[in-house]
Amino acid sequence: MEWRCYLAMLVALVLPRPSRCQVVQWDISKRVVHRSLHARADNTFEEIITNEKGQGGYFATVTVGSPGQDLVMQLDTASSDAWVPYSGASICESGTNGCSMGTFDPHSSDTFKEVARDKFEISYVDSSYSNGDYFADRFEIGGAVVQNLTMGLGMKTNIPYGLVGVGYTVNEASLSTMGCEYPNLPVAMQHEGLINSIAYSLWLNDLDANTGNILFGGVDTAKYIGPLTKIDVIPDDDSENYTHFSVSLTSLEATSPSGTDVLTSPDGPLNVVLDAGTTLSYLPHDMASKVWEEVGAEYQGAFGMAVLPCSHDAHPGYFSFGFAGSQGPRINVTMDELVVDLTNGEPPTFASGPYEGELVCEFGIQNYSTGPYILGDTFLRSAYVVYDLENNEIAIAATDFNSTDTKIVPFRSKGAPIPSATAAGEHIESAMPPLPTTSTLIAAEGFQDGDGLDDGAMTLRKFTLTGIVTVAISVMLLST
Ligand SMILES: *[C@@H]1O[C@H](CO)[C@@H](O)[C@H](O)[C@H]1NC(C)=O
Ligand SMILES: *[C@@H]1O[C@H](CO)[C@@H](O)[C@H](O)[C@H]1NC(C)=O
Ligand SMILES: *[C@@H]1O[C@H](CO)[C@@H](O)[C@H](O)[C@H]1NC(C)=O
Ligand SMILES: *[C@@H]1O[C@H](CO)[C@@H](O)[C@H](O)[C@H]1NC(C)=O
Ligand SMILES: *[C@@H]1O[C@H](CO)[C@@H](O)[C@H](O)[C@H]1NC(C)=O
Repeated sequence: MEWRCYLAMLVALVLPRPSRCQVVQWDISKRVVHRSLHARADNTFEEIITNEKGQGGYFATVTVGSPGQDLVMQLDTASSDAWVPYSGASICESGTNGCSMGTFDPHSSDTFKEVARDKFEISYVDSSYSNGDYFADRFEIGGAVVQNLTMGLGMKTNIPYGLVGVGYTVNEASLSTMGCEYPNLPVAMQHEGLINSIAYSLWLNDLDANTGNILFGGVDTAKYIGPLTKIDVIPDDDSENYTHFSVSLTSLEATSPSGTDVLTSPDGPLNVVLDAGTTLSYLPHDMASKVWEEVGAEYQGAFGMAVLPCSHDAHPGYFSFGFAGSQGPRINVTMDELVVDLTNGEPPTFASGPYEGELVCEFGIQNYSTGPYILGDTFLRSAYVVYDLENNEIAIAATDFNSTDTKIVPFRSKGAPIPSATAAGEHIESAMPPLPTTSTLIAAEGFQDGDGLDDGAMTLRKFTLTGIVTVAISVMLLST
């Protein structure tokens, strides 16, 4: 599988009340704070993140140790540990590509300090994992230098690159191995006085643009359109612990030139996790199937996912995701953000059926039978999102694709409200409107009429959607 789903699996564990790791120094005020020459006067740091389509994620270049060793690491909002692949890990030493994004050799760093041997153990929902030691060393990202960041050293791992988890510390792997938390990257940046509040903003930008950025400690008001609206992060069930950036999705509408359909689940507001470490988005089966029916995507067992012709990226129509009730923010996601190339190599084609000969692309919205449901990069690119870990709030706005302007506003102080954001202004209704009873989706025709099909072809396509025609995909192409 080319995409990875990096929602860490640690939440399910029953954990003792987290305490601070004895080995970690929290009291930063006693420490001499070294400021980077690149540090901005306004206490924010911006790092360009690159969309590595082959790996399925956003990567940042960081420097670890002294002298600095450069690594390209995946940014993940759904896990909380930063870890680097050890230069001696077997995945890095063997294979054709090894760890081409960089490895870390502790013996070559003068500032390396072992923190806890064998206590770093993380696994992600796609069953990838990384195990080894916790260590502390110098860590530089976007011109910000954290003098002594605690990180994992991936000595046994099946992932050939490191991750930078920027989620809540309660989700750190150390909690299950040592029963304690440590200041991870966003917390350490605040402790070392680099940023004022534990918060950052993510601008993933257009699917075609390849780069976006993460801004620690502030909001770039030139990167979004319309109001930036605050909504609450939802704590875990039966507790007040915040572990993931879970928010309440209260409406989903499909609009095309032929009309608008309400596709909301009958089960009421849906908790969805905003996860920049996951390539696609995952909704409950009933909602996902309606969405597929709108756009002409079909689930293919051979791929294990819903696919559609790549040419559908030019089709008109958009999905409107509403959060936190009718007065809450809404984000439009157009078809060109929802049609994603399968791999870097030669794309496969539909071998038969109405889409015969057309290139196969994966659809940006897939189905899950149970939660957690995820809004990954296929949703997040259309939004500018501020993650405020002090106040447990998210602020969200429609992204300004390809904006070249910058107007950065830092958080004023620790715990200060998200700058330039307004509150959603209404409580969440207890239930979402029910699914439309009719099986006729009036927007579907408009969604699928984008490439000038004649009526005959339209009929064929609808035929496919009813599931009568099974499209065979040539197996040879699958192995790409
Ligand atoms: C949530 O927090 C409570 C109180 O702080 C604690 O007792 C409980 O163990 C925590 N649960 C988890 C899953 O961390
Ligand atoms: C860095 O952090 C480690 C682990 O918390 C600690 O043992 C060490 O003393 C710290 N070093 C400095 C220079 O602060
Ligand atoms: C953004 O830039 C990319 C690359 O230059 C381009 O392909 C894309 O169409 C642009 N998107 C918008 C919405 O202008
Ligand atoms: C979504 O797109 C429609 C059509 O362009 C527009 O009228 C509406 O204001 C958009 N909504 C948001 C929240 O951007
Ligand atoms: C997704 O939908 C397909 C087609 O209905 C089904 O075969 C598959 O089991 C579903 N997957 C999940 C995880 O629900």
